[in-house]
Amino acid sequence: MAITRILMVCLGNICRSPLAHGILESKLPDDLFYVDSAGTSNYHIGQQPDRRSIAVARLHGIDISHQAGRQFSKNDFDAFDIIYAMDQDNYNDIVRLARTEDDIAKVRKILDADTNISSKNVPDPYYGDMSDFEHVFALLDTVCQEIADQLNS
Ligand code: 4NP
Repeated sequence: MAITRILMVCLGNICRSPLAHGILESKLPDDLFYVDSAGTSNYHIGQQPDRRSIAVARLHGIDISHQAGRQFSKNDFDAFDIIYAMDQDNYNDIVRLARTEDDIAKVRKILDADTNISSKNVPDPYYGDMSDFEHVFALLDTVCQEIADQLNS
């Protein structure tokens, strides 16, 4: 069976999308799914995730310290089947690079995957503290469980 390829995207690729990447990866069998992440900006190319994202993931038993920041590119529309944007700005920036309707159809706002979550955007914790990173982790853990349940069924 073909591998389903899923890309998580935020602005910097150091706070939110590395968490979404690590969390979803931990919930899916790696022989059937490939998960990656990228940023719409070029601010943190090659960098490790933010130390607060690494810490909150580690508290929950997930290691994201090996990830490295990279920028989203048009090629990602060919390389991935589903592209999850963390917020509306990320969604708009990704769709702006789309070449076809098929490209656009791959892009979703991640929190739309769980109708029980009332927030529409994963809040950017970059200028916040550990409680903001915990909140982001909880939101992403909930929605990634829903996504994994849908993909595994
Ligand atoms: P992220 O958070 O998009 O969740 O990775 C940010 C990280 C860095 C910056 C903004 C948001 N920045 O402006 O450098």
